[in-house]
Amino acid sequence: MQTQGPIGVFDSGYGGLTVLKEIVKTLPQYDYIYLGDNARAPYGNRSYETVYRYTLECIRWFFSQNCSLVILACNTASAKALRTIQQKDLPVMAPDKRVLGVIRPTTEMIGKYSETKSVGILATNGTVSSNSYPIEIEKFFPELKVYQEACPMWVPLVENNEYQSHGADFFIKKNIKNIFEKGENIDVILLACTHYPLLKEKIEEHLPVGVTLLSQGEIVADSLKDYLQRHTEIENQCSKNKRRLFYTTDSAEDFNNHAAKFFGEKISANHIDL
Ligand code: DGL
Repeated sequence: MQTQGPIGVFDSGYGGLTVLKEIVKTLPQYDYIYLGDNARAPYGNRSYETVYRYTLECIRWFFSQNCSLVILACNTASAKALRTIQQKDLPVMAPDKRVLGVIRPTTEMIGKYSETKSVGILATNGTVSSNSYPIEIEKFFPELKVYQEACPMWVPLVENNEYQSHGADFFIKKNIKNIFEKGENIDVILLACTHYPLLKEKIEEHLPVGVTLLSQGEIVADSLKDYLQRHTEIENQCSKNKRRLFYTTDSAEDFNNHAAKFFGEKISANHIDL
């Protein structure tokens, strides 16, 4: 019998903390361990091979920490690495462990929010070019029209603490204008990058009236709750002492200075080398 361990939550950097925050609200009883691969972030413009390699290294680290379940709270890693890890690596490496992403739970829900049947996806270059959202949405809501816009400047604006500046306004206005030029009937915009909730207020200023702005945190948290209820063999492996541990591949001090604005409370992280 395996020993119990925390639920792992992974992101290339800070963005996954916006998801962890909602998961902890919904499922406070579990232990969580967060890893931000800040030393190698952002992942958004990197190749499939690189995102896969980095993500797999991080997954191995989570498994060494006794996690039976790891959530990739990063759209780029979910889009570019998850399928290969689930299909090729897990069966050989750790058949009893699970790795889940953020794209599937979001695409299962998105159609319920749209009346015009037109939705817009704002994401990194990597997520957009993978076409994961249109492909997955087609499975659940084939009637939906899906428009995508890559916003490559948004993660650097957030990571560099410029997300409330006039510079942020410029790029947000430009990308929002672009997506509504592609699909003028869009009535739902999904923030398909876990960094973007920090830009929510500014994005709302530029959205046409009546458009619903969705971020993934709550959707992923509800879906995880449902998953754990349905998979008792995994749930039984998750320890429940309300412990939260934070790790970064870069400077712990930098992480602590930035992370609170994503997580909503002060964090004390440790550095690891992979
Ligand atoms: N937070 C990641 C996501 O959800 C992107 C950040 C990055 O480019 O590394 O896609």
